[in-house]
Amino acid sequence: MSYYQRHIFFCLNQRDSGENACAQHGAQEAFNHCKSRIKAAGLSGVGQVRVNKAGCLDRCAGGPVAVIYPEETWYTFVDNSDIDEIVDKHLIGGEVVERLVLPPNVGR
Ligand code: FES
Repeated sequence: MSYYQRHIFFCLNQRDSGENACAQHGAQEAFNHCKSRIKAAGLSGVGQVRVNKAGCLDRCAGGPVAVIYPEETWYTFVDNSDIDEIVDKHLIGGEVVERLVLPPNVGR
């Protein structure tokens, strides 16, 4: 059994140069919302879900981005309702939210 059932990493990178980065697109708010939803549901911790900050995941053109393991599913999102859907369907239900999946060719 893996230590966490699911692990989601949010890119929170910002660039002082002003170059495009996920932090300019609501990444921190999305991370905070996800973390509080998981905590409120009693799903954080060993054997459950871990919500982590990450630096640049090198897929900036699709930002803001997050990735869930073990499924290796990459997401992009706009607002808290998108995060709610990722939490409810994927982190809790194990079902991929197809409409928010980052296209495979999106890079930096
Ligand atoms: S700044 Fe977020 S993936 Fe690069």
